[in-house]
Amino acid sequence: MEPKLVITEDGSSSLFVKELDEHYHSVHGAIQESVHVFINAGLNQKINHQPVINVLEIGFGTGLNALITCMEAIASKSLIKYTAIEKYPLNTALVAELNYCTILQYKNCDEIFNSIHAAGWGRAISVKDSFTLEKCEMDFKDIMFTNQFDIIYFDAFAPSAQPELWTESIFASMFEALKPGGILVTYCAKGIVKRTLKSVGFELEALPGPAGKREMTRAHKIKP
Ligand SMILES: C[S@@+](CC[C@H](N)C(=O)[O-])C[C@H]1O[C@@H](n2cnc3c(N)ncnc32)[C@H](O)[C@@H]1O
Repeated sequence: MEPKLVITEDGSSSLFVKELDEHYHSVHGAIQESVHVFINAGLNQKINHQPVINVLEIGFGTGLNALITCMEAIASKSLIKYTAIEKYPLNTALVAELNYCTILQYKNCDEIFNSIHAAGWGRAISVKDSFTLEKCEMDFKDIMFTNQFDIIYFDAFAPSAQPELWTESIFASMFEALKPGGILVTYCAKGIVKRTLKSVGFELEALPGPAGKREMTRAHKIKP
């Protein structure tokens, strides 16, 4: 799988995987999708409400969600501990072509984005005082965390492309990985996905989707 660089409707880069006929992000805007689904509907539920937030990202990919989350950590009063799972890390030449810092214009963006990508796999590093990152090179199917995360960014390729990653057993491991009171957010709002999330114990909220999508999903692991 060698993904190909594309530009989405908000001007930000994404990647297209020909073999799956799938993009890494919404073609209506990679940055707008990341901010809408993972930051506004996910991280913002927790940030500034607790001193430490543990985030698990399912699908590190281009590192866009990690970059924006790091910037939110710097701007907030919270420490974010970010764990990202990825089975197919991108090559550095492709990462160098991503235009996120040109568009986002954050202070020290290039330095932070480079640190995020330069971080070795399998050990936590401090990218900034308020943001630590541990990238794990592994299959989603092998995840085994218990009561560890406040938020899961569930950003696998769509169920139409990789149905094997939207199963009861994967969602049961997501439920187990969350602390009671934790949330999982995903751009997906398919009926079958919502039913599977419910079947493992989540309570669901349907929220307005990012550009080009009517709905997205926030799933809660309710405190007993
Ligand atoms: C929709 S993309 C994630 C986009 C990413 N969050 C970003 O901001 O660029 C899905 C990601 O899941 C990864 N992936 C696909 N199958 C996987 C598997 N079985 N285990 C772990 N990662 C997988 C892909 O390589 C890709 O990076």
